[in-house]
Amino acid sequence: MKVLILGGTGLLGSSLVPKLQARGHDVSVLSRSEAALSSLEDQGVKGILGDLLEPEAFLSDLTPHDVVVSIAMPLEFGRMSGKAFKKVTERTTKFTQSALDIGYKLECPIIFTLGTSYKTGPGEVADETWPIERFGLTLAGVEAERLINETRAEGHPVIQMIPGQIYGPGGMFLKMYNMLKSGKFGVVGKGENRIPRIHVEDCAEAYALAIDKLPINESFIIADDTPCTMREFMDYMASCVGMSKPRTIPRILARLVMGKLLLETMEIDCVVSNSKLKEMLGWELKYPSFRDGLPNVIEALES
Ligand SMILES: NC(=O)c1ccc[n+]([C@@H]2O[C@H](COP(=O)([O-])OP(=O)(O)OC[C@H]3O[C@@H](n4cnc5c(N)ncnc54)[C@H](OP(=O)(O)O)[C@@H]3O)[C@@H](O)[C@H]2O)c1
Repeated sequence: MKVLILGGTGLLGSSLVPKLQARGHDVSVLSRSEAALSSLEDQGVKGILGDLLEPEAFLSDLTPHDVVVSIAMPLEFGRMSGKAFKKVTERTTKFTQSALDIGYKLECPIIFTLGTSYKTGPGEVADETWPIERFGLTLAGVEAERLINETRAEGHPVIQMIPGQIYGPGGMFLKMYNMLKSGKFGVVGKGENRIPRIHVEDCAEAYALAIDKLPINESFIIADDTPCTMREFMDYMASCVGMSKPRTIPRILARLVMGKLLLETMEIDCVVSNSKLKEMLGWELKYPSFRDGLPNVIEALES
């Protein structure tokens, strides 16, 4: 198939692109970076220079593709002020609208990306039948989700991928790693809340299966088999780096440093099921736990 990836130069894209090529797909990547595209072109990828905030500049030049994969990231790392949140909200909506415009123009399915924003109580496990909860930073996606639902209701083929926190050698995780190394990273309060995690290679495999099989109108949670608390994950990450456990940051200080919205998002307690992805698409995990996957990522970052 001819696969167009929006965000193919990022953490997930860097694992997904070679995986798709190895399966025999023709891959195109849209990016704002000429340098990134030039290095991808050396690997046989078709580069499309463009910005999702200005799709009119490249839309009419697009050639036919069989599927569009939307994995561009509208979020930036760091403190989330009210002004920054407004920008993220506008970008999230615009990225979604641009992906829709591309999918409509190419008359092909669109694979969207959301996040595992489910608030689970004691003993509860969320699956794809649960509605995405909107609070903290995830409020930025309200209009984007409405646009996706409207598109699906109109009969345009859509698939939704819902990854937990993706760890791998790049993207947000690299920024987290750099903060940890410089002693700036801390765990808020007791850090007893659980956030779903997924190794980037396993996440890319889930996308590759969705691209191969195109299960239209389905959505898939992507998380490993092992729920873990913030404290467990960060302590293990520090031990992989050879550092002592990250310090505890009092909630009140964390709120000042990161802002209310980011804090609320980081404090979610969420446990999810990955059964649908395994049963419907035959997904198999290479790294069922962060304990299997983190050493290899840290090794890549340290080398
Ligand atoms: N990382 C996580 O923990 C996590 C968790 C849940 C969901 N997600 C979602 O998973 C997807 C992949 O995340 P990731 O970690 O791989 O992101 P990432 O490493 O930060 O990559 C960001 C990508 O977005 C592209 N991009 C940003 N602004 C753009 C713009 N204006 N126009 C065109 N492209 C733009 C970048 O391309 P250029 O800079 O080359 O233009 C880059 O390829 C995203 O949709 C993200 O929201 C991520």
